Amino acid sequence: MIVFITGISSGFGLETAKLLLQQGHTVYGSVRRDVELPQGIHPLKVDVRDREGVQKCVDQIIEAEGRIDVLVNNAGMGIGGPLEFASPQEISEQMDSNFLGLVHCVDAVLPHMRRQGSGRIIAISSIGGLMGLPFQGFYSASKFAVEGYCEALRLETKPFGVSVVVIRPGDFSTGFTSSRKKQTSEEALQAYPAYKQAIGKVEKDERGGLEPKVLARKIGKVIRMRHPRHGYVVSSFEQRLSVLLKRILPAEWFSPILGSYYGL
Ligand SMILES: NC(=O)c1ccc[n+]([C@@H]2O[C@H](COP(=O)([O-])OP(=O)(O)OC[C@H]3O[C@@H](n4cnc5c(N)ncnc54)[C@H](OP(=O)(O)O)[C@@H]3O)[C@@H](O)[C@H]2O)c1
Repeated sequence: MIVFITGISSGFGLETAKLLLQQGHTVYGSVRRDVELPQGIHPLKVDVRDREGVQKCVDQIIEAEGRIDVLVNNAGMGIGGPLEFASPQEISEQMDSNFLGLVHCVDAVLPHMRRQGSGRIIAISSIGGLMGLPFQGFYSASKFAVEGYCEALRLETKPFGVSVVVIRPGDFSTGFTSSRKKQTSEEALQAYPAYKQAIGKVEKDERGGLEPKVLARKIGKVIRMRHPRHGYVVSSFEQRLSVLLKRILPAEWFSPILGSYYGL
């Protein structure tokens, strides 16, 4: 299959690109900087926030292969800090990288998938796309946007044989933690005394999280499934339990449980 993965310089993107190549797929992946990749992977330089750039990448794939079977919308980043202190630039970077970037990729591949009458769009959301995480509020908002968009997209594209699958990772040990742009101002730290400890906990959980290979294997499976589910949570047992509790408990019960986990 012809696969396009965004953000293959590290983490899930890199592991997925390597695995899918091993499995015999033709793999194209977006990068923003020069990185060493295994031979056989086709890098395409683009920042997913650049709509025209993304279109050019997809044009290149179509010119070379004549089709595109799978899009893995993986590129993303996180900002951390009290919502009140996020600057407009930080908010834009968060929403544009994680949500608009994904929209750019879908818009570029969809006409080809519709024409083919087949295709699979995989979106990497997060458990943070199912519950609003304190001090990662704009990250959660960007993933909630992904969730809502994909829910609607799935209905619109089903008649054309194009399926949409959302994957929600829990904590994984990738470059995501060190790339997080954190609020460090004294004012924010003083105004929100719980922030420092909470973000420390988030980082500890991520660093001790699952290996990105686990998620790559899930994507490898989803690509081969004839009838995949609409979405999958890939995480530790405790995090799957938190997703279940969020679904079944009244919000007024779940919110204090989540808050107390983060020292709020
Ligand atoms: N790790 C976790 O615990 C976790 C949990 C839930 C969800 N996720 C999601 O998983 C996805 C992959 O993250 P990861 O954990 O593998 O982190 P990662 O190792 O930091 O990889 C992120 C990738 O996305 C790329 N990227 C970020 N912003 C981009 C942009 N605007 N345009 C193009 N590429 C961009 C990065 O490129 P550069 O190297 O150029 O920055 C990198 O290749 C993200 O969507 C993230 O939200 C991660």
